[in-house]
Amino acid sequence: MAPESLPRPDIVVCSDARTLAVDAAHRFTALNAVAVRLGFPFNVALAGGRTPALLYSLLTVPPFRDAIDWSRTRLFLGDERCVAPDSQFSNFRMIRETLLDPLGYQAQDLVRIHGEDPDCNAAAVAYAADLARSFGSSIPRFDLVLLGMGPDGHCASLFPRKPSLRERSRWAIASEPGLEPFVPRVTLTLPVLNNAANVLFLVAGRDKAAALARVLNGPAAPDDLPSQSVQPANGTLTWLLDRAAATMMSR
Ligand code: 6PG
Repeated sequence: MAPESLPRPDIVVCSDARTLAVDAAHRFTALNAVAVRLGFPFNVALAGGRTPALLYSLLTVPPFRDAIDWSRTRLFLGDERCVAPDSQFSNFRMIRETLLDPLGYQAQDLVRIHGEDPDCNAAAVAYAADLARSFGSSIPRFDLVLLGMGPDGHCASLFPRKPSLRERSRWAIASEPGLEPFVPRVTLTLPVLNNAANVLFLVAGRDKAAALARVLNGPAAPDDLPSQSVQPANGTLTWLLDRAAATMMSR
């Protein structure tokens, strides 16, 4: 049962992290085909962290690689750590290593957050300007936003009880970390996430089980559980879980 007053998302429990990644790859491919068939670019905000790495690797090999029109796919970051792009903590580095380089997708074609900028606020302003160049003056509407969830219920770099949760006008904002790596972040804000046509959470591992049960089955507590605030106003919301993460979910 979803928290009261929240619409129930689609929840899919996969046997393990690999079948979760395969399911996500099929969804990515299908959504790409819809956008391309309609003659539009396929705009994707990529998740950071570890979980999506397997999905990204799957997208670089058959059957998915050749089923996706990469020439019409525009890649963005959902959030970034304020570190150099070759840092072990960089989401861009993880994405470059697992997706861009194996695909031969020109790294400079991904619209990244310049985490190397010593001023995170300036990096957030610059990213919002890059988004405006891609989406125009109206709030970005991504065809697909990929998100992970931390064991504290955070998503992107929207951490519990942080000011960034309450941002309702800016599209990207500097955000304090709430979990390791304890480096400043830049993140898309909730208005952008909730303007997406499709949001897909990828959550695997037993360490997420308690937070996941609270987010999906517990009472509404969005300040403590930022992932609860991801409720696309005019889009789909799907949670792809592995069995380990779903162990504490009510039936
Ligand atoms: C980040 C991600 C973050 C991540 C979750 C889950 O920059 O770290 O945007 O929101 O998705 O922390 O991370 P794992 O997939 O590594 O568990």
